[in-house]
Amino acid sequence: MSDAVIRFGDEELTLPVHVGTEGEKGVDIGKLRSSLGLVTVDRGFANTAEGRSSVTYINGEEGILRYRGYPIDQLAEETSFLEVCYLLQYGELPSKTELDDFEESITRHTLLREDTKHLFEAFPHAAHPMQILASATSALATYYPDKLDPLDAEAVDISARRLIAKTPTMIAWSYKYRVHQPYVYPDNSLDYGSNFLNMMFSVPAEKYVADPVIVKALNMLLILHADHGQNCSSSAVRLVGSGHANIFSSIAAGIHALSGPLHGGANQAVLEMLDRIVASGQDVDTVVKRAKDKDDPFRLMGFGHRVYKNFDPRARIIKQAAADVLDSLGVDDPLLEVARQLEEVALEDDYFVERKLYPNVDFYSGIIYRAMGFPTDMFTVLFALGRLPGWLSQWRELSADPEAKIFRPRQLYVGPEERDIVRVEDR
Ligand code: CMC
Repeated sequence: MSDAVIRFGDEELTLPVHVGTEGEKGVDIGKLRSSLGLVTVDRGFANTAEGRSSVTYINGEEGILRYRGYPIDQLAEETSFLEVCYLLQYGELPSKTELDDFEESITRHTLLREDTKHLFEAFPHAAHPMQILASATSALATYYPDKLDPLDAEAVDISARRLIAKTPTMIAWSYKYRVHQPYVYPDNSLDYGSNFLNMMFSVPAEKYVADPVIVKALNMLLILHADHGQNCSSSAVRLVGSGHANIFSSIAAGIHALSGPLHGGANQAVLEMLDRIVASGQDVDTVVKRAKDKDDPFRLMGFGHRVYKNFDPRARIIKQAAADVLDSLGVDDPLLEVARQLEEVALEDDYFVERKLYPNVDFYSGIIYRAMGFPTDMFTVLFALGRLPGWLSQWRELSADPEAKIFRPRQLYVGPEERDIVRVEDR
């Protein structure tokens, strides 16, 4: 591969070009500032690769997504979420024995310390689940002070397993506190998804058995959300980790980053948008027209993506699953039909076609979560539960990288030039 050459004034600098395993090329600008006195300006890091990663491959033009080389549709169809947690973190799918050991160790750590209940009770009942989850995740670090060293591989591994094991319990307990029901303890005889559903939806007074349709759909949704390269929250996790903050603090930062409506919060925003359309009786053409109006801040939530300029492969799978799950559960949700109509109109519309705006992972997921019985403002914590193994893998990859550096972007300063202070009484 030939190098790239940059010319600035009378000077010329040769920049090496690195090539990834799928042929992607990256110009290494590491010497740009020291040689030519230039920094790069790249809003939203749209063209910047911070480093190398071997976790997830995305080809946005062709709509391809693979974890560790495995196509997302195969993983969603043929594996369990815990297998994917293992794959993302350790690089290979587990053997039967490795999976049994991994499942057993996750199961062993599902319980929260009894006194963490007070943490949930310190929040208002109406608190948003993402705020509680981020706080509880951060607080978890205080219970394991001897396992926080980011450079201690054994401590990192047990902390990662604790996070995978305890996050469903934290989510379910925050819900139980909100709905004034007793906390339900983990049941280690159940698989990961059934245990979570049991902690969420069972009450001590009645026997609860999770519907296998819901368990299967949850497994699939968690897998589809499990990693997505250097997205906003994963970059936040890596950035915080690059300063050698502990893994709990780094994951808490990722949860906060995910909460915004342009990122993971979009799944809640999509459902609220669809609800408003159905409640107001607005037709979809008017909604699409609003989304195109540059004087209107409204955007079609669940549409568009920084990387995909084609169908988001996750959206394809979720769209089909939404129809299947609602059908199996006998749920007739008018929101599904409105979503389909919106998609149809938008995909024919020049504005969306020219900008290559397609439905993303969040467009149909909320319809399934709702059919499963989750309240709308819990959709984003479900995304967080799914994305957790990705965050852990990205964090671990960076902390094990001998070439890693603390993240410290440059800037172009455009503020005032040097000036002298005028004493307050003279200003
Ligand atoms: N509705 C209307 N117009 C849109 C939309 C939308 N959903 N998305 C992008 N555009 C327009 C945008 O106004 C811009 O138009 P113009 O070129 O005339 O200025 C053009 O398309 C490019 O958009 P952008 O904002 O520059 O693109 P971006 O890569 O910076 O943003 C995005 C990507 C996902 C933030 C954006 O598409 C968006 O806000 N979508 C809605 C929120 C959403 O669904 N987010 C979930 C993303 S997928 C899951 C995840 O990552 O968490």
